[in-house]
Amino acid sequence: MPSAFRSPRDPAIRTILLPKDTNGHGTIFGGVILSYIDLAGAVAARRLGPHKYVTVGMDKIAFPEPVYVGDVVSFYADVNHIGTTSVTVKVRVEAQRFADPNVTVKVTEALVTYVAVDAGGRPIPVKGGLPRTTLFAKKK
Ligand SMILES: CC(C)(COP(=O)(O)OP(=O)(O)OC[C@H]1O[C@@H](n2cnc3c(N)ncnc32)[C@H](O)[C@@H]1OP(=O)(O)O)[C@@H](O)C(=O)NCCC(=O)NCCS
Repeated sequence: MPSAFRSPRDPAIRTILLPKDTNGHGTIFGGVILSYIDLAGAVAARRLGPHKYVTVGMDKIAFPEPVYVGDVVSFYADVNHIGTTSVTVKVRVEAQRFADPNVTVKVTEALVTYVAVDAGGRPIPVKGGLPRTTLFAKKK
């Protein structure tokens, strides 16, 4: 895997979740986390080129730890596999507890697959045709 496709420890997304993101028990709704996972993976996929990507699949996902309002939640995304028209990204989610910032827990991990599509929604090659984006180039 070319090192340019490997995330540094900077997360693709880092956020604090709010009361609006909770379920009926007062903890964060799993669907909110899934939505951020989808976005974080897309941030990593976009490094391959400014394609239009659609999400085609997400592997089995488990939530061994809850996320609480006020936790700092980080979504680390690394390109795991580059296919012909698809790219698969591993997204790891960690929560730094609001109640104790010294405690960070792994919330979940997922493999998300995106397909590059043309204007008609048909798969197109992820490599070759388009220049790699400089969105994440280091500042000079
Ligand atoms: C993504 C989409 C364009 C793929 O179309 P398709 O006709 O199935 O295309 P293909 O069979 O040629 O597969 C394209 C690539 O997707 C991969 N793929 C297809 N289904 C997959 C799945 N369930 N999981 C992982 N990868 C999958 C194929 O392996 C292939 O990868 P490769 O080219 O790197 O080898 C089409 O399924 C689609 O439009 N889906 C809806 C996407 C969407 O709207 N997502 C948001 C849902 S709310």
